[in-house]
Amino acid sequence: MSTVLITGGHKGVGLEAVRRIASQGNNDLLLAGRNMAEVKAVIDELATKYGVKIKGVNLDVSSMASVRSVAASTRDMVDRGEIAPLQVLLLNAGAQFLGPIR
Ligand SMILES: NC(=O)c1ccc[n+]([C@@H]2O[C@H](COP(=O)([O-])OP(=O)(O)OC[C@H]3O[C@@H](n4cnc5c(N)ncnc54)[C@H](OP(=O)(O)O)[C@@H]3O)[C@@H](O)[C@H]2O)c1
Repeated sequence: MSTVLITGGHKGVGLEAVRRIASQGNNDLLLAGRNMAEVKAVIDELATKYGVKIKGVNLDVSSMASVRSVAASTRDMVDRGEIAPLQVLLLNAGAQFLGPIR
């Protein structure tokens, strides 16, 4: 068993990826996002539907302090056996600016 960490996995392309991974049932999931209410709703949905082990962590990728904090807390979760060792990082969180930047 291993863990897939995904940033922005509660919305858009990331959510579709997370649903697919959860349906396969062979990985734990760690959802990293800055909107924990939305993250929790997806965790509840996937845990109920697929019985997958899935947790959330509060991450704002625009803050290096937040990135470092999540790196440390993730390592602690692995060390405590709460999640399987990390195997995959899906660094999906981001934005596209298709028009003029203002
Ligand atoms: N959709 C496309 O056609 C397409 C094409 C090429 C590339 N991409 C890339 O694929 C990725 C996902 O796109 P999408 O269309 O699925 O976008 P989306 O629906 O807007 O989802 C973006 C995700 O990133 C999160 N996010 C944004 N800024 C963040 C921050 N500072 N800290 C933490 N999380 C943050 C959002 O969280 P919040 O809910 O908190 O905002 C959301 O969960 C992006 O990197 C995008 O550039 C998309």
